Amino acid sequence: MSEITRSDQRTNFFNLLQRRSERSAFNSDRVISGRDLTSILEAARWAPTAHNMQNFEVVIVDDPRILDTIGRVHSTTTHEFIVENYRQLSFSEDELIRKGVGILANSFPPEWLNPDGDFHETDDMEHGFLDSTMRSCPLVIIVLYDPRRRAPGSTGDFLGIISLGCVMENMWLAANALGIGVQIMSVFSEKSTEDELRGILGVPPELRIAYALRLGYPIEAERPHLRVRRGVGSFAHRNQYGAHYEPDVTD
Ligand SMILES: Cc1cc2nc3c(=O)[nH]c(=O)nc-3n(C[C@H](O)[C@H](O)[C@H](O)COP(=O)(O)O)c2cc1C
Repeated sequence: MSEITRSDQRTNFFNLLQRRSERSAFNSDRVISGRDLTSILEAARWAPTAHNMQNFEVVIVDDPRILDTIGRVHSTTTHEFIVENYRQLSFSEDELIRKGVGILANSFPPEWLNPDGDFHETDDMEHGFLDSTMRSCPLVIIVLYDPRRRAPGSTGDFLGIISLGCVMENMWLAANALGIGVQIMSVFSEKSTEDELRGILGVPPELRIAYALRLGYPIEAERPHLRVRRGVGSFAHRNQYGAHYEPDVTD
C-alpha cells in the first residue's frame, strides 16, 4: 500500500471542508454509477459504530417508479418543528454571519416565517408532498436503524444514534470526494411519512427509518449558498471548561 504523504493528508482535510448540503435540483441527465454507489456503500460499511454493532441497513432506491411514488408521499411539519425552527432562523445573510449558527429563512415556506405569528397556536402543518425535495433526484439511500443491534449499556441507545451519524458522515464525505451532491432528508423519519414509506419499501416493523440521503450531480449555477460556522474559539476550551482556547493557525 502506498504511503500517505503529508500533502495527501492536507488534500483529504480540505476535501472534508468542502462537504456541503445540496438542496437545489440535481442534473436529471446524470445518474450515479454503480461503481460510485459501491464506494459510498463501502464508506458506510467502514463507518465507526459503537461496540462495532453496525446497527444499520440501507435501502437504495434508483427505480424511477419508486422514486416517483416516494415523491407522492405526504410530509407533515410538526408544531414543535415550526416553533423551534423559527427561533433559530436568520432573515438576512448579515444576521446569519453574525450568529454563525442555523440557516437562512429563505430555505423555508413563507407560512413558517411570520415573526408576528402566534406559533404556539399553530397546529401541525401538512407540508405537502416530498416531490419538491425529490425533484430530479436519481438515487436515494434510506438508512434504517436497527435497535436490536444496541450498543451494550448505552442508555436510550445514545451511542447507537451517534453511530448512525458516523454512517451518515462517511457516506457524505465519500459522495463529496466523488463530486456527488448530498442532501440529508430527516423528514423520512417523521412518523406519518415513515409509516407511508414503510409500506412502499417493505421495511419491517422492528426497524426505524433514521434518515435518507438524496444524491445527484449538482447544477453548478444553482450551487452558491452561504455557509457559516461558530469560530473554534467559541466552542473549544483549554484544560478547563470556560477557559479560552486560541486556535494555532501557523503552518
Ligand atoms: C442529523 C442531521 C439531519 C439533517 N437534516 C436535514 C434535512 O432534513 N434537510 C436538509 O436540507 N438538511 C439537513 N441536514 C443538513 C444540515 O442542515 C446542514 O449540515 C447544516 O445546515 C450545515 O450546512 P452544510 O451541510 O452545507 O455544511 C441535516 C444534518 C444532520 C447532521
